[in-house]
Amino acid sequence: MNPKKIVVAYSGGLDTSVMVKWLSEKYDAEIIAVTGDLGQKKELFGLEEKALKTGATKVHVIDLKDEFIKEYAFKALKAGALYENEYPMGCSIGRPLLAKMLVDVALKEGADTIAHGATGKGNDQVRFEVGIQSLAPHLNILAPLRTWEFKSREQEIEYAKKHNIPIQATKESPYSIDENLFGISVECGILEDPTVAPPADAYQITTDPKLAPDIAETITIKFEKGIPVSLNGIEKSPVEIVVELNNIGSKHGIGRLDIIENRVVGIKSREIYEAPSATILHKAHHELEKLVMDKDTFRYKQGVSNQIANMIYDGLWFTPLFTSLMAFVDSTQEYISGNVKIELYKGNLKVLSRDSEFSLYNEELATYKEGDKFDHVASIGFIHLYGLPFKTVSKVRNK
Ligand code: ARG
Repeated sequence: MNPKKIVVAYSGGLDTSVMVKWLSEKYDAEIIAVTGDLGQKKELFGLEEKALKTGATKVHVIDLKDEFIKEYAFKALKAGALYENEYPMGCSIGRPLLAKMLVDVALKEGADTIAHGATGKGNDQVRFEVGIQSLAPHLNILAPLRTWEFKSREQEIEYAKKHNIPIQATKESPYSIDENLFGISVECGILEDPTVAPPADAYQITTDPKLAPDIAETITIKFEKGIPVSLNGIEKSPVEIVVELNNIGSKHGIGRLDIIENRVVGIKSREIYEAPSATILHKAHHELEKLVMDKDTFRYKQGVSNQIANMIYDGLWFTPLFTSLMAFVDSTQEYISGNVKIELYKGNLKVLSRDSEFSLYNEELATYKEGDKFDHVASIGFIHLYGLPFKTVSKVRNK
């Protein structure tokens, strides 16, 4: 391969800084560093200057926060997509958008190659590369971390020093952290031993539930067609809602996860996540669906949610099946409008109330009090026929 113009997914961290330099030494190519802002707090400051000093000829820092929440996170929310029933996938959802950003820049700049800094062991390489292949199959892909000569962080630091690559003077975290508005993931270090509980410093944004306020806080989220539109009666943009729920949730220790998960490449890994807004929104959205969605659709959608979660996790966002399943999800959201009131207290979420103009809850049918309109006698014939096949089976097989 003889790349002429390489678009590099750049975070400003050690790996991608070394990668920019390494690529500029190895290939006689123009290097364009691109960073997507998905709401990660730490890494964006001074990024452009750093990339230029490191060997990039051009730098783009692109604000993707709105698009990320509207077109990616809220789609996953509508889908009820929780990987292995728990993980709201902040990281996994961000990757296809970053892949799209890299492709957009590559096409605009006339680049022939995209390089990313994912390793050969993780899910992110799959998400980036399948995303890029699906959107722009003619582009070459480089993933130097899978093949380069560095065997440890120390070797990378040595290389960085030798080439005057600015590396942070501050002590590096013992963890590998990926952050965006929909959640933060923490791996490595002591966390690699699943028999050891996460030390307090593994959690980056949430209060320890034990130390959270002694007074509960109540919030009301309003949804329209499956999308949150206001908080405590005040209309807000998607990003504002997520930011605010992250703040409130963090304060009350909401959204911590410590799980073992199945990676795409077949290994199990131990992961720590903090996703306050995602946790609150999934809970509220699910509650509203229970009130509004008809039984058959609700049951069917559970399977679709699971399938979509697997597809997001596995990097299959830009695929025909994903698009079709999301069309199904959208059609299920037509009536998912209403309010959910939730209490936050020391790491727990409790639904206090839910209401919707499309509520299918009918007190006259549900009540055990006077005024019951449910036809109890109709159940006799219903159950007679409903159980008939099993009566028949039993008669034949249990003589
Ligand atoms: N295991 C999680 C996922 O696949 C988090 C990955 C975090 N990525 C990272 N480069 N630290 O979604």
